[in-house]
Amino acid sequence: MKITILGAGTWGVALAALLSKNGCDVTVWSPIVCEIERLRATNTHQNLPGIQLPQNIIYTNDMEAACRDGEIVLFVVPSQFIRSTAEKAAAYIQNDAVIVNAAKGIEKGTFMTMTEVIADVLRTVRSGLQYSIAALSGPTHAEEVAAGLPTSIVAASEDEQISRKIAGLFANSCMRVYTNTDVKGVEISGALKNVIALAAGINRGMGFGDNSGAMLMTRGIAEITRLGLAMGCKRRTFMGLAGVGDLIVTCTSCHSRNNRCGELIGRGKSYEEAQAEIGMVVEGYHALEAAMGIAEKYAVELPITESVYSIIKCGEKPHDAMHRLMNRDIKSELDT
Ligand SMILES: NC(=O)c1ccc[n+]([C@@H]2O[C@H](COP(=O)([O-])OP(=O)(O)OC[C@H]3O[C@@H](n4cnc5c(N)ncnc54)[C@H](O)[C@@H]3O)[C@@H](O)[C@H]2O)c1
Repeated sequence: MKITILGAGTWGVALAALLSKNGCDVTVWSPIVCEIERLRATNTHQNLPGIQLPQNIIYTNDMEAACRDGEIVLFVVPSQFIRSTAEKAAAYIQNDAVIVNAAKGIEKGTFMTMTEVIADVLRTVRSGLQYSIAALSGPTHAEEVAAGLPTSIVAASEDEQISRKIAGLFANSCMRVYTNTDVKGVEISGALKNVIALAAGINRGMGFGDNSGAMLMTRGIAEITRLGLAMGCKRRTFMGLAGVGDLIVTCTSCHSRNNRCGELIGRGKSYEEAQAEIGMVVEGYHALEAAMGIAEKYAVELPITESVYSIIKCGEKPHDAMHRLMNRDIKSELDT
């Protein structure tokens, strides 16, 4: 199977290594010349220390060459670059390709999920193109996948045959793949858990403990579920790997940029200072505005997301935001 991977970051390269080991012919594209040169020259990635990548992966800056034979095209660039990358790739994607989105985010302004953004571009630029589309998401830190540690992930497509095809490609003794037909639920979970991870990080940075950490995670998945249900997604998706699974890993792991960024903010840094220290894209920040917009559109309350928005975008002190959260009206846990 010929695979095109768009994005040579930590996740794109970890997936390239996995698929190459599974016997696929893999080509990885990036717009960054020095990134491709370095991958070609060293077969290593700077964010995956100690990992030697398979020799037979092809690296290129040429989008046409990358997509020429791609039967499966994986989008693995940060979510804010998905639209521009789809616009670059659209002319070269093969008829009958299976497109897989592995980025986690919601587009500002349109509130589209990433598969919706890709479909939107293809509808405009390649209206006659035949293709299938899916999302790949779950509790999957690239560092652990690249190291071959046991991991599970969700392949989501409205067409069960397509999700099974993708599952077959990625599965091996280290990677267990579940399928789901609720694509929107899987993508909404992946985008919004990053905001809750910022909250969990802020909580730790302020010196609060495990009790409030557990509260934020539990009530975090409750608010993501509430929003997802209002959007027509399925409740069980939020209780699954792409929902609560990804939320747990992102809120607790040292590998999570959102979590680390939140911790720095909780210790008193501004978002800009924290982001500069992390040195990589913090997607929870980019999901904040869209999350607030969707919440308004569907008239759903997202108290934790609102608090993170207020801290990061409006400069509210984390302690004041936590105080407000603790003093909200009494609610039944059984309400959605
Ligand atoms: N890192 C993980 O463990 C992990 C796991 C699951 C999902 N994801 C998701 O995968 C996506 C990529 O994450 P990552 O960790 O690989 O990011 P990264 O920051 O490591 O890599 C980003 C890559 O995107 C490409 N890029 C940079 N600027 C670009 C531009 N202007 N246009 C197009 N491409 C550009 C480059 O190849 C760059 O290396 C994100 O949406 C993330 O949420 C990451």
